[in-house]
Amino acid sequence: MQNVNNREISSNLFERAKELFPGGVNSPVRAFRSVHGPPLFIKEGQGAYMIDEDGHRYLDFCCSWGPLILGHNHPHVREAIIKTVEKGTSFGTPTRLGNEIGELIISRHRYIDQMRFVSSGTEAVMSAIRLARGYTGKDKILKFSGCYHGHADSLLVKAGSGLATFGVSTSAGIPEGFAQETLVAPLADSAALERVFAQHGESLAAVIIEPIPANNGLLLQTKTYLQHLRSLCTTHGVLLIFDEVISGFRIAFEGACATYEIQPDICTFGKIIGGGMPVGAFAASREIMKEVSPLGPVYQAGTLSANPVAMAAGKAALEILLEKDFYRNLNRKASHFLNRIRAHVHKQGYPMRIQQAGSIFWFAFGTEVVRHADQIDPDSMKYFKELHALLLDRGIYLGPSGYEVGFVSTAHSPTDLEMAADTICACLDQIF
Ligand SMILES: Cc1ncc(COP(=O)(O)O)c(C=O)c1O
Repeated sequence: MQNVNNREISSNLFERAKELFPGGVNSPVRAFRSVHGPPLFIKEGQGAYMIDEDGHRYLDFCCSWGPLILGHNHPHVREAIIKTVEKGTSFGTPTRLGNEIGELIISRHRYIDQMRFVSSGTEAVMSAIRLARGYTGKDKILKFSGCYHGHADSLLVKAGSGLATFGVSTSAGIPEGFAQETLVAPLADSAALERVFAQHGESLAAVIIEPIPANNGLLLQTKTYLQHLRSLCTTHGVLLIFDEVISGFRIAFEGACATYEIQPDICTFGKIIGGGMPVGAFAASREIMKEVSPLGPVYQAGTLSANPVAMAAGKAALEILLEKDFYRNLNRKASHFLNRIRAHVHKQGYPMRIQQAGSIFWFAFGTEVVRHADQIDPDSMKYFKELHALLLDRGIYLGPSGYEVGFVSTAHSPTDLEMAADTICACLDQIF
């Protein structure tokens, strides 16, 4: 067992980092504010494991927040990166590698005709919203509470109070006028959807949803609900944006589109598509994409967009995802792992559920199926906080917040998962 108090080097580095970066971090949730201890400073990742600066080894279920579906430092991805870097890192021109990954994705993804690469999920979503507004000539968008779409101004918005569906910003620095262009509805509530469309359908450019919401717990939606949303959008001439930054290439190669057999108008991608490098993309039909500059009037650009190193990493990762039975094997392995924990939880009668979508999982401390954000009791996060600390001591790393999901990668071996399941069960015994 590793000692939680013996993370001296991480601790010292964090003290220094606090002088350099706000809160000591370059992305807020990394600061460990809702769990115990200083954040781990990681110096190396190999396969399913990471090693911190103090030399402790952790079985990693955060997987860099989703991109690492093949685990850390996969040899095929690494070699592709090295081979590319030897010839230069960025030219600001089109490249053959860009064509190759574009071709690989578009020829195997039945729900898109064309795409454009950007450098993050936020950028993909921001561009998709602009495209939807440019294409429809309308301004308002609808999002759902409990979905996260990156940190673009129009999406850092939550539901206003009372019956109003107009959003209020969740961050300082966003003009209220921007926030008011965003409406917010609860997930998993068809009646609320009907109301919003009846009232605002004609002024909506787009509805954006994580079809598998995985940023506020894992809030599983039903196919019927998503179909209802699709049909309301079609009836009212509103574009449906599936934000597949997490679910794309994770649940299946064609993501939630194929899982639910629903054709969105625009898809956004990130995380896995870059094989661990900074990549995002938005994609749609030819008819919609022809609005994007230089073909059309919707401006969108990026100095490092589709740089060869990122393209090589993404392509190498996606090639493996296309191997026969890739998703079947990964999802089965994840189910086997989670079922082992579920059986224990059930036998002991612990007030806990494990929600799952393929290789994504979330520990919900409550007994009912959680489909919308309001069902999560903030008080239940105390259990996660305890579990997180106990697991760190035992060499298992979960993302440092009870609202974050976990990921199983192909690098997690059956033995790793057996050990992890036993350890998690033992920690739950200690908590309950
Ligand atoms: C569904 C979804 N959309 C967009 C984003 C933003 O992506 P990025 O952090 O790469 O900007 C995220 C990030 O977690 C996400 O989960």
